[in-house]
Amino acid sequence: MSSVSILFITLAIINFMSIALAFDTRPLQDFCVADLTSKAQFGGVVPCKDPETVTANDFFLSGLHLAGNTSNPYGVAVASASATTLPGLNNLGLTFMRVDLARNGFFPPHYHPRATELVVVLEGSMEVGFITSSPKYNYFSKVLRKGDVFVVPVGLVHNVRNLAQGNTVALVAFNSQNPGVTNIPNAVLAAEPAVDSVYLSKAFRLGVKTVKRLQRKF
Ligand SMILES: *[C@@H]1O[C@H](CO)[C@@H](O)[C@H](O)[C@H]1NC(C)=O
Repeated sequence: MSSVSILFITLAIINFMSIALAFDTRPLQDFCVADLTSKAQFGGVVPCKDPETVTANDFFLSGLHLAGNTSNPYGVAVASASATTLPGLNNLGLTFMRVDLARNGFFPPHYHPRATELVVVLEGSMEVGFITSSPKYNYFSKVLRKGDVFVVPVGLVHNVRNLAQGNTVALVAFNSQNPGVTNIPNAVLAAEPAVDSVYLSKAFRLGVKTVKRLQRKF
């Protein structure tokens, strides 16, 4: 084999390994119900309860038919079925949410570092769109109505806003126990300690005063 093809195969293996490691691990037993009394955490995974003490209730959660309280600046409410609210989900690489958006409600541009997101609209209408990475920055967006489904690939910046006159309700699934979220405005303008405003003014091609005013708003 030529050294070029050995190099190519090595790179392909390294690439495959990094993809495999970037996602939640596969379970090694039927279930690992989260022991929420344990303080120990291993890379986001909570230790398992003794299987002898596990009951059907560990795999059950009710209440996602209830509208959340959207009285906040974003006009949104999120109710989660995650390993903390539904301990049977621990170690299975899945998180599920009910999202309520009030009229004019929105999520600022954000991304989930560890999960692909699948959105299903149950009621109302919302716009969802994601932006591809450099150098294209293509914007793929759709207006979703009842029954519509949209997928946001892992790690891509996306926008969500309600377009209905009233509330919009959606179910959202993530293929990670811990999708994580980074809101772009907060990350850039509200980091602790603050990112240097002269540096940000160059990045955004804005005056330093404008950047400082934006930083104070967060
Ligand atoms: C909704 O949240 C707001 C702000 O936190 C609070 O003032 C209000 O009482 C809540 N409404 C209900 C119905 O819980």
